[in-house]
Amino acid sequence: DQTGMAYSVGTTLDRFIKLKQSDFPFASGELSQLLRDIALAAKIVNRETNRAGLANIGGAFGQTNVQGEEQQKLDVIANIRFMRALSKGGEVCAIVSEEEDAVVDLQNNSGKYVVAIDPLDGSSNIDVNISIGTIFSIYRRKTPIGSPIQQEDIMQPGSEQVAAGYVLYGSSTMLVYTTGFGVNGFTYETSLGEFFLSHPQIQAPKSGSIYSINEGLEKDWQDGIKSYVDQCKENRFAARYIGSLVADFHRNLLKGGIYLYPATKKNPSGKLRLLYEANALAFIAEQAGAKASDGQERILDIVPESLHQRTPLLIGSTELVEDAMNYIQLAK
Ligand code: AHG
Ligand code: MN
Ligand code: MN
Ligand code: MN
Repeated sequence: DQTGMAYSVGTTLDRFIKLKQSDFPFASGELSQLLRDIALAAKIVNRETNRAGLANIGGAFGQTNVQGEEQQKLDVIANIRFMRALSKGGEVCAIVSEEEDAVVDLQNNSGKYVVAIDPLDGSSNIDVNISIGTIFSIYRRKTPIGSPIQQEDIMQPGSEQVAAGYVLYGSSTMLVYTTGFGVNGFTYETSLGEFFLSHPQIQAPKSGSIYSINEGLEKDWQDGIKSYVDQCKENRFAARYIGSLVADFHRNLLKGGIYLYPATKKNPSGKLRLLYEANALAFIAEQAGAKASDGQERILDIVPESLHQRTPLLIGSTELVEDAMNYIQLAK
């Protein structure tokens, strides 16, 4: 923290954002407003999530998205909520969303920011009351404010993110974000309708003893992944896999562990999407002292070539990710 100003556990998100604004000497407050817009949409999605079973918004929507996944009703609802918040706020010029085939040009050329978003992560867990999430990345546009948006505004490597975060709709709802000065986590107090700082300056354990991977796909893994996971078992690591990336990532960030979604036969580049899943979590991981790689390269260095591009992902405690990378290297 560069502010030197006091904040502590129990500070509201709004106040925290205001205090932290001075981390950016020439800040105009637009990023702060954008973060508040996202928090508001998160509260709305939290409400929908909590009453999904009663409100007839469970189950399939009846359409598939551009990646060929069956959309759930809540995927569509969350997308609408975030789209609305981001477009009404006025700070954003373009949005990339998992649930939109193409870039959404908001025709707001005075908007400074580009947002990439996974509105609802962990779709398969909605109807069974298991934690789900939202993931977002924020970039500053490259082309001058006032001009139409261009490819270069959208296709930025993760290292260019100015902020990133996730919301975890879990046993409690949390918002965790970074603007490049560490990672802070806020817990939602339902009765007050506010997020409060609960996890200041999150530091990930350097190592750990949890591994998280969809082990049902073992037959499709490369040898390096197989031998690394064997090693986890030799070491009696705990296997923990929820199937909601946000929840699996959050647990390992706090407790120490590694999450892997490697290349498989069905998905030769892995399953997770670079722009709105891997990049945000990689930025948060690094800011918390953890690590994220595709097996060879730092996630944040990958220059995207397409909107819904997938990437293998190894993310979590630094020592564990480095171990896994060594196994991949050795198996070559
Ligand atoms: P989404 O629900 O946004 O499409 O993301 C699903 C992702 C991620 O949340 C999860 O970690 C992963 O898919 C699980 O995949 P498998 O079911 O193949 O393990
Ligand atoms: Mn999906
Ligand atoms: Mn997802
Ligand atoms: Mn999703």
